Amino acid sequence: MNIQEYKSLKSYNTFGIEAKARFFCEVNSLEDLSKALQLNEYKEKFILSGGSNILITNDINALVIHLNLKGIEVVKETDDDVIIKVMAGENWHKMVRWTLDQNYGGLENMSLIPGNTGTAPIQNIGAYGVELKDTMFSCEAIDKKTQELKTFTNEDCQFGYRDSFFKNEGKGKYVITSVNFKLSKKNHVLRTTYGAIETELKNRNILQPTIQHISDAVIAIRQSKLPDPAELGNSGSFFKNPIVSKSEFLKFSKNHPDAPYYKLEDDTFKIPAGWLIESCGFKGKRFGDAGIHEKQALVLVNFGNASGDEIKDLAHQIMAEVEKRFQINIYPEVNIIG
Ligand code: EPU
Repeated sequence: MNIQEYKSLKSYNTFGIEAKARFFCEVNSLEDLSKALQLNEYKEKFILSGGSNILITNDINALVIHLNLKGIEVVKETDDDVIIKVMAGENWHKMVRWTLDQNYGGLENMSLIPGNTGTAPIQNIGAYGVELKDTMFSCEAIDKKTQELKTFTNEDCQFGYRDSFFKNEGKGKYVITSVNFKLSKKNHVLRTTYGAIETELKNRNILQPTIQHISDAVIAIRQSKLPDPAELGNSGSFFKNPIVSKSEFLKFSKNHPDAPYYKLEDDTFKIPAGWLIESCGFKGKRFGDAGIHEKQALVLVNFGNASGDEIKDLAHQIMAEVEKRFQINIYPEVNIIG
Protein backbone atom coordinates (compact mmCIF):
# COMPACT_ATOMS: atom_id res chain seq x y z
CA MET A 1 0.00 0.00 0.00
CA ASN A 2 1.34 3.37 -1.00
CA ILE A 3 1.39 5.63 2.06
CA GLN A 4 2.07 9.29 1.34
CA GLU A 5 3.16 11.82 3.94
CA TYR A 6 2.10 15.44 4.52
CA LYS A 7 -0.41 15.19 1.68
CA SER A 8 -2.39 18.34 0.87
CA LEU A 9 -6.13 17.78 1.25
CA LYS A 10 -7.16 20.96 -0.59
CA SER A 11 -8.50 19.06 -3.58
CA TYR A 12 -10.11 16.39 -1.37
CA ASN A 13 -12.62 18.68 0.39
CA THR A 14 -15.23 20.71 -1.48
CA PHE A 15 -14.63 23.72 0.80
CA GLY A 16 -11.15 23.83 -0.75
CA ILE A 17 -9.49 24.27 2.66
CA GLU A 18 -5.72 23.85 2.73
CA ALA A 19 -4.81 21.25 5.36
CA LYS A 20 -2.40 18.34 5.40
CA ALA A 21 -2.82 14.66 6.17
CA ARG A 22 0.16 13.36 8.19
CA PHE A 23 -0.27 10.04 6.34
CA PHE A 24 -2.52 9.32 3.37
CA CYS A 25 -3.50 6.30 1.31
CA GLU A 26 -6.14 5.47 -1.24
CA VAL A 27 -8.09 2.21 -1.15
CA ASN A 28 -9.66 0.75 -4.28
CA SER A 29 -11.06 -2.52 -2.94
CA LEU A 30 -12.62 -3.97 0.20
CA GLU A 31 -9.45 -5.99 0.77
CA ASP A 32 -7.32 -2.83 0.66
CA LEU A 33 -9.69 -1.07 3.04
CA SER A 34 -9.53 -3.97 5.45
CA LYS A 35 -5.72 -4.00 5.24
CA ALA A 36 -5.49 -0.25 5.79
CA LEU A 37 -7.73 -0.47 8.85
CA GLN A 38 -5.38 -3.13 10.26
CA LEU A 39 -2.22 -1.03 9.92
CA ASN A 40 -1.57 -0.86 13.65
CA GLU A 41 1.44 1.42 13.34
CA TYR A 42 -1.02 4.24 12.57
CA LYS A 43 -3.11 4.60 15.68
CA GLU A 44 -5.52 7.20 14.41
CA LYS A 45 -7.35 6.60 11.14
CA PHE A 46 -9.60 9.02 9.33
CA ILE A 47 -11.91 7.95 6.51
CA LEU A 48 -12.24 10.48 3.72
CA SER A 49 -14.71 10.02 0.90
CA GLY A 50 -16.07 12.81 -1.32
CA GLY A 51 -15.13 15.49 1.24
CA SER A 52 -18.39 17.33 0.58
CA ASN A 53 -19.71 17.50 4.12
CA ILE A 54 -16.64 18.39 6.17
CA LEU A 55 -14.93 21.53 7.35
CA ILE A 56 -11.27 20.79 8.14
CA THR A 57 -9.90 23.23 10.71
CA ASN A 58 -6.45 21.68 11.32
CA ASP A 59 -3.94 19.36 9.75
CA ILE A 60 -5.11 15.78 10.28
CA ASN A 61 -2.62 13.91 12.42
CA ALA A 62 -3.72 10.42 11.36
CA LEU A 63 -3.67 7.96 8.49
CA VAL A 64 -6.25 9.45 6.13
CA ILE A 65 -7.83 6.61 4.13
CA HIS A 66 -9.38 7.89 0.93
CA LEU A 67 -12.23 5.59 -0.11
CA ASN A 68 -12.22 4.96 -3.82
CA LEU A 69 -14.45 1.88 -4.09
CA LYS A 70 -16.16 1.87 -7.50
CA GLY A 71 -18.89 -0.07 -9.24
CA ILE A 72 -22.65 -0.17 -9.82
CA GLU A 73 -24.52 -3.43 -10.39
CA VAL A 74 -28.08 -4.68 -10.58
CA VAL A 75 -28.56 -7.26 -7.84
CA LYS A 76 -32.24 -8.11 -8.22
CA GLU A 77 -35.05 -7.13 -10.54
CA THR A 78 -38.71 -7.74 -11.26
CA ASP A 79 -40.94 -6.25 -13.97
CA ASP A 80 -41.72 -3.35 -11.62
CA ASP A 81 -38.55 -2.55 -9.74
CA VAL A 82 -34.86 -3.09 -9.40
CA ILE A 83 -32.31 -3.20 -6.61
CA ILE A 84 -28.94 -1.74 -7.47
CA LYS A 85 -25.76 -1.94 -5.46
CA VAL A 86 -23.54 1.13 -5.60
CA MET A 87 -20.02 1.13 -4.18
CA ALA A 88 -19.23 3.90 -1.70
CA GLY A 89 -16.74 5.82 -3.85
CA GLU A 90 -19.13 6.39 -6.75
CA ASN A 91 -19.89 10.08 -7.25
CA TRP A 92 -23.50 10.65 -6.19
CA HIS A 93 -24.64 12.72 -9.17
CA LYS A 94 -22.94 10.50 -11.75
CA MET A 95 -24.71 7.55 -10.15
CA VAL A 96 -28.08 9.37 -10.26
CA ARG A 97 -27.58 10.14 -13.97
CA TRP A 98 -26.75 6.46 -14.56
CA THR A 99 -30.06 5.42 -12.94
CA LEU A 100 -31.92 7.90 -15.13
CA ASP A 101 -30.19 6.58 -18.25
CA GLN A 102 -31.61 3.14 -17.35
CA ASN A 103 -35.02 4.80 -16.68
CA TYR A 104 -34.92 3.77 -13.02
CA GLY A 105 -37.00 6.15 -10.89
CA GLY A 106 -36.57 7.41 -7.33
CA LEU A 107 -33.42 9.50 -7.16
CA GLU A 108 -34.25 12.23 -9.71
CA ASN A 109 -35.17 14.89 -7.11
CA MET A 110 -31.73 14.45 -5.55
CA SER A 111 -29.79 15.25 -8.72
CA LEU A 112 -26.59 17.29 -8.46
CA ILE A 113 -26.00 16.80 -4.73
CA PRO A 114 -22.21 16.89 -4.29
CA GLY A 115 -20.31 14.03 -2.66
CA ASN A 116 -20.03 10.28 -2.92
CA THR A 117 -22.69 7.61 -2.50
CA GLY A 118 -21.17 5.97 0.59
CA THR A 119 -21.54 9.04 2.77
CA ALA A 120 -25.12 9.77 1.71
CA PRO A 121 -26.72 7.53 4.39
CA ILE A 122 -24.72 9.13 7.21
CA GLN A 123 -26.68 12.34 7.04
CA ASN A 124 -29.67 11.00 5.08
CA ILE A 125 -29.15 13.52 2.27
CA GLY A 126 -32.24 15.12 0.83
CA ALA A 127 -33.56 17.74 -1.54
CA TYR A 128 -36.81 18.87 -3.13
CA GLY A 129 -39.14 16.75 -1.04
CA VAL A 130 -37.16 13.49 -1.18
CA GLU A 131 -34.59 11.95 1.17
CA LEU A 132 -32.17 9.07 0.74
CA LYS A 133 -34.25 6.99 3.17
CA ASP A 134 -37.14 6.90 0.65
CA THR A 135 -35.23 4.61 -1.72
CA MET A 136 -32.37 3.13 0.29
CA PHE A 137 -32.99 -0.59 0.67
CA SER A 138 -29.89 -1.41 2.72
CA CYS A 139 -26.22 -0.59 3.04
CA GLU A 140 -23.10 -2.50 3.92
CA ALA A 141 -20.44 -1.26 6.27
CA ILE A 142 -17.17 -2.54 7.66
CA ASP A 143 -16.71 -2.50 11.41
CA LYS A 144 -13.51 -0.49 11.87
CA LYS A 145 -12.36 -2.64 14.81
CA THR A 146 -13.15 -6.17 13.64
CA GLN A 147 -13.19 -5.59 9.84
CA GLU A 148 -16.43 -7.56 9.76
CA LEU A 149 -18.81 -6.60 6.94
CA LYS A 150 -22.31 -5.93 8.21
CA THR A 151 -25.60 -5.25 6.41
CA PHE A 152 -27.83 -2.48 7.73
CA THR A 153 -31.48 -2.42 6.65
CA ASN A 154 -33.27 0.86 6.11
CA GLU A 155 -34.78 0.48 9.58
CA ASP A 156 -31.40 -0.28 11.21
CA CYS A 157 -30.14 3.09 9.95
CA GLN A 158 -32.68 4.99 12.12
CA PHE A 159 -33.00 7.78 9.61
CA GLY A 160 -34.22 11.23 10.60
CA TYR A 161 -33.89 14.71 9.11
CA ARG A 162 -30.18 14.88 8.15
CA ASP A 163 -29.62 12.22 10.77
CA SER A 164 -28.96 8.47 11.14
CA PHE A 165 -27.51 5.72 13.34
CA PHE A 166 -24.11 6.57 11.80
CA LYS A 167 -24.23 10.07 13.35
CA ASN A 168 -25.27 8.71 16.75
CA GLU A 169 -24.52 5.26 18.30
CA GLY A 170 -22.66 4.18 15.16
CA LYS A 171 -20.54 7.34 14.94
CA GLY A 172 -16.93 6.64 13.98
CA LYS A 173 -17.42 2.87 14.24
CA TYR A 174 -18.20 1.88 10.66
CA VAL A 175 -17.11 2.60 7.12
CA ILE A 176 -20.02 2.34 4.67
CA THR A 177 -18.75 0.39 1.67
CA SER A 178 -21.86 0.14 -0.54
CA VAL A 179 -25.46 1.29 -0.69
CA ASN A 180 -28.41 -0.62 -2.21
CA PHE A 181 -31.32 1.31 -3.65
CA LYS A 182 -34.76 0.02 -4.62
CA LEU A 183 -35.90 1.95 -7.69
CA SER A 184 -38.96 1.77 -9.93
CA LYS A 185 -38.75 0.51 -13.52
CA LYS A 186 -42.21 1.75 -14.51
CA ASN A 187 -45.16 3.74 -13.14
CA HIS A 188 -42.65 6.08 -11.53
CA VAL A 189 -43.97 8.14 -8.64
CA LEU A 190 -43.26 11.73 -9.64
CA ARG A 191 -42.65 14.21 -6.85
CA THR A 192 -43.19 17.65 -8.33
CA THR A 193 -45.18 19.31 -5.57
CA TYR A 194 -42.12 21.02 -4.15
CA GLY A 195 -42.91 24.56 -5.33
CA ALA A 196 -39.80 25.35 -7.31
CA ILE A 197 -40.02 22.14 -9.38
CA GLU A 198 -43.58 22.82 -10.52
CA THR A 199 -42.68 26.36 -11.52
CA GLU A 200 -39.56 25.23 -13.36
CA LEU A 201 -41.50 22.56 -15.30
CA LYS A 202 -44.20 25.12 -16.19
CA ASN A 203 -41.55 27.57 -17.40
CA ARG A 204 -40.24 24.80 -19.64
CA ASN A 205 -43.77 24.01 -20.93
CA ILE A 206 -43.53 20.44 -19.69
CA LEU A 207 -47.02 19.19 -18.92
CA GLN A 208 -46.31 15.48 -18.58
CA PRO A 209 -42.92 15.28 -16.94
CA THR A 210 -40.71 12.21 -16.95
CA ILE A 211 -38.11 11.45 -14.29
CA GLN A 212 -35.48 12.87 -16.64
CA HIS A 213 -37.45 16.16 -16.89
CA ILE A 214 -37.60 16.36 -13.10
CA SER A 215 -33.86 15.79 -12.85
CA ASP A 216 -33.22 18.54 -15.42
CA ALA A 217 -35.52 20.92 -13.52
CA VAL A 218 -33.77 20.17 -10.22
CA ILE A 219 -30.37 20.71 -11.82
CA ALA A 220 -31.50 24.09 -13.16
CA ILE A 221 -32.92 25.17 -9.77
CA ARG A 222 -29.81 24.08 -7.89
CA GLN A 223 -27.50 25.78 -10.39
CA SER A 224 -29.48 29.00 -10.03
CA LYS A 225 -28.92 29.26 -6.28
CA LEU A 226 -26.26 26.87 -5.07
CA PRO A 227 -22.60 27.53 -5.87
CA ASP A 228 -20.63 24.87 -7.76
CA PRO A 229 -17.83 23.67 -5.44
CA ALA A 230 -15.51 23.47 -8.46
CA GLU A 231 -15.85 27.26 -8.80
CA LEU A 232 -16.45 28.42 -5.23
CA GLY A 233 -15.52 26.28 -2.22
CA ASN A 234 -18.55 25.23 -0.18
CA SER A 235 -20.22 22.30 1.50
CA GLY A 236 -23.87 22.82 0.55
CA SER A 237 -26.12 23.80 3.43
CA PHE A 238 -23.81 24.58 6.31
CA PHE A 239 -26.64 24.54 8.88
CA LYS A 240 -29.66 22.33 9.45
CA ASN A 241 -33.08 23.94 9.42
CA PRO A 242 -34.14 24.20 13.08
CA ILE A 243 -37.18 22.26 14.25
CA VAL A 244 -39.13 23.92 17.07
CA SER A 245 -42.09 22.95 19.25
CA LYS A 246 -45.57 24.30 18.60
CA SER A 247 -45.42 26.75 21.50
CA GLU A 248 -42.02 28.08 20.39
CA PHE A 249 -43.33 28.37 16.86
CA LEU A 250 -46.44 30.32 17.89
CA LYS A 251 -44.28 32.79 19.80
CA PHE A 252 -41.95 33.13 16.81
CA SER A 253 -44.63 33.51 14.16
CA LYS A 254 -46.51 36.16 16.16
CA ASN A 255 -43.42 38.37 15.91
CA HIS A 256 -42.51 37.26 12.37
CA PRO A 257 -45.71 36.54 10.46
CA ASP A 258 -43.87 36.65 7.10
CA ALA A 259 -41.41 33.89 7.93
CA PRO A 260 -41.72 30.73 5.82
CA TYR A 261 -42.19 27.44 7.71
CA TYR A 262 -43.13 23.77 7.23
CA LYS A 263 -45.45 22.02 9.64
CA LEU A 264 -44.17 18.51 10.36
CA GLU A 265 -46.26 15.43 11.14
CA ASP A 266 -45.51 15.42 14.87
CA ASP A 267 -46.84 18.95 15.41
CA THR A 268 -43.39 20.50 15.35
CA PHE A 269 -42.33 23.19 12.88
CA LYS A 270 -39.29 23.52 10.66
CA ILE A 271 -38.10 27.07 10.05
CA PRO A 272 -35.69 27.72 7.15
CA ALA A 273 -32.32 28.68 8.62
CA GLY A 274 -31.65 30.51 5.33
CA TRP A 275 -34.45 32.95 6.13
CA LEU A 276 -33.22 33.48 9.71
CA ILE A 277 -29.66 34.13 8.51
CA GLU A 278 -30.78 36.44 5.72
CA SER A 279 -32.96 38.36 8.19
CA CYS A 280 -29.86 38.97 10.33
CA GLY A 281 -28.29 40.69 7.31
CA PHE A 282 -25.61 38.08 6.56
CA LYS A 283 -26.59 37.05 3.04
CA GLY A 284 -23.87 37.91 0.52
CA LYS A 285 -21.51 39.27 3.21
CA ARG A 286 -17.79 38.58 2.98
CA PHE A 287 -15.26 38.54 5.81
CA GLY A 288 -11.79 38.10 4.30
CA ASP A 289 -12.05 34.96 2.19
CA ALA A 290 -14.96 33.49 4.18
CA GLY A 291 -18.50 34.44 3.29
CA ILE A 292 -22.20 33.73 3.02
CA HIS A 293 -23.46 32.88 -0.46
CA GLU A 294 -25.30 35.73 -2.17
CA LYS A 295 -28.18 33.53 -3.36
CA GLN A 296 -28.64 31.08 -0.45
CA ALA A 297 -27.79 32.21 3.07
CA LEU A 298 -27.55 28.62 4.31
CA VAL A 299 -24.36 28.11 2.33
CA LEU A 300 -21.00 29.34 3.62
CA VAL A 301 -18.30 29.81 1.00
CA ASN A 302 -14.53 29.97 0.73
CA PHE A 303 -13.50 32.66 -1.77
CA GLY A 304 -10.05 31.10 -2.08
CA ASN A 305 -7.79 31.05 0.91
CA ALA A 306 -10.07 31.01 3.94
CA SER A 307 -8.86 28.73 6.72
CA GLY A 308 -11.19 26.21 8.32
CA ASP A 309 -11.09 28.29 11.50
CA GLU A 310 -12.20 31.43 9.67
CA ILE A 311 -15.25 29.58 8.30
CA LYS A 312 -15.91 28.09 11.74
CA ASP A 313 -15.68 31.53 13.41
CA LEU A 314 -18.11 32.94 10.87
CA ALA A 315 -20.49 30.04 11.56
CA HIS A 316 -20.35 30.80 15.29
CA GLN A 317 -20.98 34.49 14.68
CA ILE A 318 -24.06 33.59 12.61
CA MET A 319 -25.34 31.13 15.22
CA ALA A 320 -24.97 33.72 18.00
CA GLU A 321 -26.74 36.43 15.99
CA VAL A 322 -29.66 34.15 15.06
CA GLU A 323 -30.00 33.14 18.71
CA LYS A 324 -29.92 36.76 19.88
CA ARG A 325 -32.44 37.93 17.31
CA PHE A 326 -34.89 35.01 17.26
CA GLN A 327 -34.14 32.95 20.40
CA ILE A 328 -33.73 29.98 18.06
CA ASN A 329 -30.62 27.83 17.97
CA ILE A 330 -29.25 26.65 14.66
CA TYR A 331 -26.60 23.95 14.36
CA PRO A 332 -24.12 22.95 11.66
CA GLU A 333 -25.02 20.15 9.31
CA VAL A 334 -21.41 19.90 8.17
CA ASN A 335 -18.94 17.84 10.22
CA ILE A 336 -16.31 20.10 11.72
CA ILE A 337 -12.98 18.27 11.91
CA GLY A 338 -10.17 19.21 14.28
N1 EPU B 1 -34.75 31.36 2.26
C1 EPU B 1 -34.51 32.68 2.50
N2 EPU B 1 -33.24 33.15 2.32
C2 EPU B 1 -32.22 32.34 1.92
C3 EPU B 1 -32.47 30.96 1.70
C4 EPU B 1 -33.76 30.49 1.88
O1 EPU B 1 -35.39 33.45 2.85
O2 EPU B 1 -31.10 32.83 1.77
C5 EPU B 1 -36.14 30.85 2.36
C6 EPU B 1 -36.70 30.58 0.98
O3 EPU B 1 -37.28 31.71 0.42
C7 EPU B 1 -37.71 29.51 1.22
C8 EPU B 1 -37.11 28.76 2.40
O4 EPU B 1 -36.16 29.60 3.00
O5 EPU B 1 -38.93 30.07 1.62
C9 EPU B 1 -36.51 27.44 1.99
O6 EPU B 1 -35.46 27.63 1.07
P1 EPU B 1 -34.97 26.49 0.03
O7 EPU B 1 -36.13 25.94 -0.68
O8 EPU B 1 -33.85 27.07 -0.75
O9 EPU B 1 -34.47 25.32 0.94
P2 EPU B 1 -33.66 25.26 2.30
O10 EPU B 1 -34.59 24.85 3.39
O11 EPU B 1 -32.93 26.53 2.49
C10 EPU B 1 -33.12 22.70 2.06
C11 EPU B 1 -31.92 21.80 2.13
C12 EPU B 1 -31.08 21.88 0.86
C13 EPU B 1 -31.96 21.47 -0.30
C14 EPU B 1 -33.17 22.43 -0.34
C15 EPU B 1 -34.17 22.04 -1.41
C16 EPU B 1 -31.37 21.68 4.48
C17 EPU B 1 -30.40 22.04 5.55
N3 EPU B 1 -31.11 22.15 3.28
O12 EPU B 1 -32.64 24.05 2.00
O13 EPU B 1 -30.05 20.91 0.99
O14 EPU B 1 -31.25 21.54 -1.53
O15 EPU B 1 -33.89 22.37 0.93
O16 EPU B 1 -34.82 20.88 -1.06
O17 EPU B 1 -32.33 20.96 4.77
C18 EPU B 1 -27.76 20.54 1.54
O18 EPU B 1 -28.16 19.81 2.44
O19 EPU B 1 -26.52 20.71 1.32
C19 EPU B 1 -28.73 21.25 0.70
C20 EPU B 1 -28.35 22.13 -0.21
